[in-house]
Amino acid sequence: PTETGRVLSIQSHTVQGYVGNKSAVFPLQLLGYDVDPIMSQQQDFAGYPTFKGQVLNGKQLWELIEGLEANNLLYYTHLLTGYIGSVSFLDTVLEVVNKLRSINPALTYVCDPVMGDEGKLYVPPELVSVYREKVVPVASMLTPNQFEAEQLTGFRIVSEQDGREACRHLHAAGPSKVVITSICIDGTLLLIGSHQKEKGQSPVQFKIVIPKIPAYFTGTGDLMTALLLGWSNKYPDNLEKAAELAVSSLQSVLSRTVKDYEKAGYDPQTSSLEIRLIQSQDDIRDPEIKYNSHLY
Ligand code: ATP
Ligand code: PLP
Ligand code: MG
Ligand code: NA
Ligand code: MG
Repeated sequence: PTETGRVLSIQSHTVQGYVGNKSAVFPLQLLGYDVDPIMSQQQDFAGYPTFKGQVLNGKQLWELIEGLEANNLLYYTHLLTGYIGSVSFLDTVLEVVNKLRSINPALTYVCDPVMGDEGKLYVPPELVSVYREKVVPVASMLTPNQFEAEQLTGFRIVSEQDGREACRHLHAAGPSKVVITSICIDGTLLLIGSHQKEKGQSPVQFKIVIPKIPAYFTGTGDLMTALLLGWSNKYPDNLEKAAELAVSSLQSVLSRTVKDYEKAGYDPQTSSLEIRLIQSQDDIRDPEIKYNSHLY
């Protein structure tokens, strides 16, 4: 498959380390996409305790969009969004979706509704209802983690059945593709994917079992969403294959990361690990499928 496109990627930037656009732009470029990043904020490093940097506000985002439009440069095949820190910025992103769709009605909007993880919100709580009521309805593909899927649907997800039900609930609200990037059941990670090919039809659903590596990484969710965008566009009717490719790439990145930290004399369980993205480019360009989808 050779299908590529031009992606507008609105995400955060870290000077050092790989989260947000730093973990999305390079992989998408490796997969052949033109990627135009807008940095929604820039900060020194991904860790939270001491963060210094700048935040772009909604008005500044809109200025960039107006500039591109004035120069006839607003044709995009894909919009990708990740971490967004305020309601006003998220409202402006919604205006960007409308504007891009007015230029390309076939625009695919891939939304990672970054709100939190492991039972905790890390965005202002007012964002939850904006995602739920205004963003989910306009998204083409949604990639929540377990906690985010719970926030968006309002019910607990503790089983595969719950995960599949959450996907159906989200399809009814808008997106035809939903990937819950992981739910943790008895110490094992499960990715649950769901593709509703026609409105009102029951979706094709599948899972991928992912053994949990005993380490904590940052940027994996952002990388996962970028890879899902890249591969699902190349296999538009085969989300299960796109997910196999994305998971296989990501797991290669993570095992290299652990190995390299060990080689350097670190215990990978003691701190959060920066993914070895640049060192993994062959695994991103041409992943060997080691993780298989199982259709329900
Ligand atoms: P993050 O936790 O980085 O914010 P996220 O919460 O948005 O990401 P997750 O579902 O937690 O999304 O992680 C995305 C993907 O990263 C998972 O599908 C899985 O493939 C991989 N992953 C993350 N952590 C691990 C781990 N410890 N072991 C194995 N795979 C992992
Ligand atoms: N964006 C920023 C600015 C962050 O600080 C973090 C936190 O680690 C993330 C994104 C999270 O990225 P991911 O969900 O890929 O780990
Ligand atoms: Mg997570
Ligand atoms: Na996710
Ligand atoms: Mg995430």
